[in-house]
Amino acid sequence: MPDTITLIDDRTGKTVTVPITDGVFPATAVRDLDPSLYVYDPAYMQTAACKSAITYLDGEAGILRYRGYPIEQLAEKSTYLEVAYLLLNGELPTDAQLTQWKADVTHHTFIHENMRKRFVDGFHYDAHPMGMLVSSLAALGTFYNDAKDIFDKGSRDKQILRLIAKTPTLAAMCYRFSMGLPFVYPNNSLSFPGNFLNMMWRVGDDYEIDPRLERAMDVLFILHADHEQNCGTTAMRVVGSSQADPYSSAAAAASALYGPLHGGANEAVVRMLEEIGSIDNVPAFIQEVKSGTGSRLMGFGHRVYKNYDPRATIIKQTAYEVFEVTGKNPLLDIALKLEETALSDDYFVSRKLYPNVDFYSGLIYQALGFPTAMFTVLFAIPRTVGWLAHWQELLADKDQKISRPRQWYTGVGVRDYVAVGER
Ligand code: ACO
Repeated sequence: MPDTITLIDDRTGKTVTVPITDGVFPATAVRDLDPSLYVYDPAYMQTAACKSAITYLDGEAGILRYRGYPIEQLAEKSTYLEVAYLLLNGELPTDAQLTQWKADVTHHTFIHENMRKRFVDGFHYDAHPMGMLVSSLAALGTFYNDAKDIFDKGSRDKQILRLIAKTPTLAAMCYRFSMGLPFVYPNNSLSFPGNFLNMMWRVGDDYEIDPRLERAMDVLFILHADHEQNCGTTAMRVVGSSQADPYSSAAAAASALYGPLHGGANEAVVRMLEEIGSIDNVPAFIQEVKSGTGSRLMGFGHRVYKNYDPRATIIKQTAYEVFEVTGKNPLLDIALKLEETALSDDYFVSRKLYPNVDFYSGLIYQALGFPTAMFTVLFAIPRTVGWLAHWQELLADKDQKISRPRQWYTGVGVRDYVAVGER
């Protein structure tokens, strides 16, 4: 069977044959057929907008790999900082490289005092921490004039380090402001997740990091580090394609993540479980979802996964490990009943709707003491490295130009203007 596809323009009889490589054929075939012809593909359902060598995802089989390494192995054996190095560089670090990388990230955890004292203090007392984080990411870039030198590798690497290292500091700062608590400075003797937990929870001298919770935090960071061309990463690439600095691009990516259909879903899951209130109410809730009179079953379904999201499997297992320390989250039973009911219901089975990464992550976050408003922020911290890996790849990609899709104009044709008073 030839690995080609032939497009025929039935209006003119012209044909264009192009190769199919890895299941993809170039859209230039359409241009070659007729330069005034466009493909209508809302939400990019059938469009590969870039080549990428970072993350492999097979949604039908439920497979996720970073740079070829199965997510299950990384979640079991690796650390977030090691995974961050892998995503950015394509290879796992040697011992010496990892030591250097950890030291480099650790030495960029502090933020300028003006970020905290003047910028964050300007927010309204009840500002949402994710809204604050989005703005803080953009504001952070204004402290670094070299941020705009995006074609200088040294400068690019510096901004990458800064963003990875400072996002947890910004996140904890936003949380503490929203709680009216004093800021806790980074402690560079701690691990990446340990430092974050310390900045979140320390009150005076009072905070002991439980190594099991520190590890759980790191596993959650690993699982959220990248997920190829999702809405947030696409926003990063689209804004990055205009050669904006990486802070502004990351702020755009974080804005995309903020939405309830994307990174905001874990918050929505917990709200949904609280509203359901008891396992007795699960059948009625599922009925409402199916009839379309209620909301969607949050934390279920995925644009790409048509199978169990492999991250959901690991998160579910991590949830039990966390509950051993914190005690069981009372919402767990409702979540388990929902999952069991949905997975045996033809509505969900026939539409291939399975738990996604957000279904159980909120329960862990809640057990760890995070308020629901912080959940998307917890997603943004590790996803920063995914955004940056894609940004770096974009800048090196000779096929890329400024993102500029075309439209299918459906408005009216030309009209004569009639002045106010004469209409
Ligand atoms: N509950 C009930 N029905 C659903 C759900 C759900 N969670 N998700 C999809 N469906 C149904 C749709 O109503 C539709 O049914 P129909 O064919 O009868 O019209 C069918 O399944 C296909 O749904 P689409 O909306 O076309 O699927 P799409 O790929 O556009 O949506 C999405 C994916 C947004 C994730 C969707 O499944 C959803 O809204 N899930 C709930 C929100 C959520 O958990 N988001 C987190 C995603 S993971 C992440 O971003 C990190």
